[in-house]
This record gives sequence, structure tokens and C-alpha cells, in this order.
Amino acid sequence: MSRLIIEGGRPLHGSIEISGAKNSALAIIVAAALATEGECILDNIPQGSDIGTICLILQDLGVGVWFDDEDRLHIRGSSLNKHTASYDLVRKMRASFYSAGLLLARVGKAEVPLPGGCAIGSRPVDYHIKGFTHMGAEVTIEHGYMKAVANRLQGSQIYVNRASVGTTINLMIAASMAEGTTILENAAKEPEVVDLAIFLNGMGAKVRGAGTESIRIEGVDSLRGIEYSIIPDRIEAGTFLFAAAITGGDILVKSVVAEHLRVPIVKLEEAGVTITRGDNALHVAAPNGRLKPVDVETLPYPGFPTDLQQPLVATMCLAEGTSVVRETIFDRFRYVDELRRMGADIKTDQGTAIIRGVPQLTGAPVEITDLRAGAALAIAALAAEGRTELYGVEILDRGYEFFEEKLRALGATIYRED
Ligand code: UD1
Repeated sequence: MSRLIIEGGRPLHGSIEISGAKNSALAIIVAAALATEGECILDNIPQGSDIGTICLILQDLGVGVWFDDEDRLHIRGSSLNKHTASYDLVRKMRASFYSAGLLLARVGKAEVPLPGGCAIGSRPVDYHIKGFTHMGAEVTIEHGYMKAVANRLQGSQIYVNRASVGTTINLMIAASMAEGTTILENAAKEPEVVDLAIFLNGMGAKVRGAGTESIRIEGVDSLRGIEYSIIPDRIEAGTFLFAAAITGGDILVKSVVAEHLRVPIVKLEEAGVTITRGDNALHVAAPNGRLKPVDVETLPYPGFPTDLQQPLVATMCLAEGTSVVRETIFDRFRYVDELRRMGADIKTDQGTAIIRGVPQLTGAPVEITDLRAGAALAIAALAAEGRTELYGVEILDRGYEFFEEKLRALGATIYRED
């Protein structure tokens, strides 16, 4: 068991480079195994244990997966030879359920364990399953597994409940090789969905409308391997924007698509932070005095992302006044108990957090409850007086590449102890 130690109270200064988007990479790595001709070579894949897990799932299904000397990920889907995904791997991460879409498209049957509950509340896959059923799959739930069979999936018109990101991605993967045309209504518009569509089209798929609420996928008989580079991680970038804001810092965040962060940027500006757009970069400078409070509601893209809710709440702990943050996507406020241990004044009630800004947080031992909570506790620790010990750091390792190294490059005192 290792823990992260942060000695807080130093403003961040300097520049960092944002890594490839974890959530985009997870979808694209699975979709890459659709190719039966040639191999896919993926660039800008971030390191992190979630990426390791999805690679192991594919390898377990017979897919060739390896990194070359330049950290590019090679995926050879032609050797896929199983239709059952391993419980031991799938249970680690919900995005593993994308293997169901892949298996149905490639071999017409899939046995994939249902992902369990997790620290941000119940996360069912009923919308995914409904989609597969609409496409003609016969689905049963047995012994904790979803078992689905379809000789060839049939194109269909499917309404995606709550504009679910995972459902949109899984059904895009499944529909790309279905017979006929699938139309996803109320589809997710997240940049990761658009990245997947561009990738699939490069492989020979016919996906139109990604980024709007109606995505049309004309099924094709086969897909081929291509080279592709993943988009920058908007959540990682946003996390660093909040880290600069809470510490009173001034940093340059490079390799970022500003357009993907429109609402978080507006909210930071409302809080008094100056953000200047450069060439694929954002310069962020905190105000001299304290931040102003903001009110925010998390929403599907292009709204304020739920994955930045925790870094935002952590930042507002030090604002001068009261912020109200409403979480509409997940049950995601468990971590506020840990912020309270650092001196934050937060009340939560049914999906709403009321944060009364305090002049100072103090370092404390805290427990990371989920990935984004880990980022939030780390940035609170950067601004807190004294030493914070973050336990459960392996959760943070799931999705932030070189987190400590990047923060150290910005002048933070952060190190790992076993
Ligand atoms: C993805 C992201 C996650 C992000 C979330 C919302 C990945 C790997 N993860 O998660 O980081 O926080 O989008 O932007 O990309 N739901 C159901 N049944 C389903 C599917 C979803 O009830 O079958 C509910 C969920 O519990 C949630 C809402 O729908 O309340 C939206 O979830 P969804 O967009 O599917 O999130 P994920 O794809 O799991």
C-alpha cells in the first residue's frame, strides 16, 4: 500500500503537457479490435491502470496487444478467438463492458460479467442491454453474466436514455458492423464520442452525426487497421486549471482543446481566474485575493462535466462566499467527508453541495474514494496548510498519467511513500 504525501501552501507555476484522453482511449482500444485486416497503431495513449486493464481484457480474448518502443499501442484484432470476458478483469472497470459491443459485432455472441456497484453509486448497464436487444440480440442474465447472441446484429432506431456516454459508445461499436443502419437518438455528444466516430470512420465505418444528438451508423462488412492519435484529456486539463486556481498559481497548460472545456473555463472566469487561450494551450492565472464563489450544475456535454465536479468543489472550499453545486449524473459526494477533515465547510443534501468558503484548509490524512475524488483531494492538499497523506492512491493511478511528476514540475511538493 502506498500513499501520496503533499506539503501544501505553494502556488503552482510553470507549464505542463496534457496526456491523451483516458475515456477516449478506452473506447478506441476496444473498437480497434473490430479490424480484421491489418492492425491499429494508437498514439497518445495515456499510461494508467485502466488502460492496462482494457488491454488485458482484449489479450484474454485472443487479440494481439502490445506497446512499441515509441509507446504506441498496436492492436491486432484478427486473432480474437473467445467470446467470454474474464470476471476478474471486467470487475475492475465499467468501461470493460465495451467488450460486449465488440464481441457481438465480431463473433455474434458475448458473455460479459455485469459490472458491480462502485463508489459513485449504482452504475447499471441496462441501457446498453436494451440497445443490444433492439438490435436483435437475445440477451439473458445468468450467474452474474450478460449472455447475448445474435447471428448478425440488425440496424435499429434506439433512444439512448439520459444521453449515456457508455451506451452511445458501446452501441456505436456494435452497430459499425451490423446489418443495416442504426440511429442513436439522444446520443451523448461528448468529445470522446466524436473521437471514436472519427476513428471508426478511418477504419472504414460509416458513422455520421457524432457530436449531435442523433448518430447514424450504416453497418459495413469489415473494418481495417489504421494509425490514430487520441485527443487530449479534457478532464486532466480541467483538473490542472482548478489546481492552479486553488493554489493562487499561474500556469500554462499545453496540448489542450479549449473548446472541450468551455463551461469549466466560464465558471473559473466567474470565480475571478484569468484564462487566456493560446495555440492548443491555456494560460491560467489565479486572482491576487480569494476566489469568488460559483453555482454549478453538472450536465451531459457541453454542460459542466461531472468528472470535474470534485475538483470544482475542492476549489470552492477556499472561495470567499457560498457556492452551490448540483450533481445530476451520479451519486458522487462521498468524498466531501474527507474535505471536511481538512477543514472544509460543506453540506450535502440529495445531490446538492453547499460549500461555504473558509480562509484556510489544513493538511490531514484522507482516503481517496474514487478517481476524480482523488484528484480533488490532491488539489485541496496543494492549497492546504501543512502535510496531507492521501491513502488509496492506486485509485488515482487508474486515470492520471504522471500526476506527481507533472505537479512536481509545477513546483508542488508531492511524493509517494510505501
Ligand atoms: C462515462 C465516463 C465517466 C463520466 C460519465 C458521465 C468513461 C469510461 N466514463 O461513464 O468518466 O463521468 O461518462 O460523463 O467514459 N446509466 C444507467 N444505465 C445504463 C447506463 C447509464 O442507469 O445502462 C446512468 C448512470 O448511472 C448515470 C447516467 O446514466 O447516472 C449517465 O451515465 P453514463 O453517461 O453512461 O456514464 P458512463 O459511460 O458510465
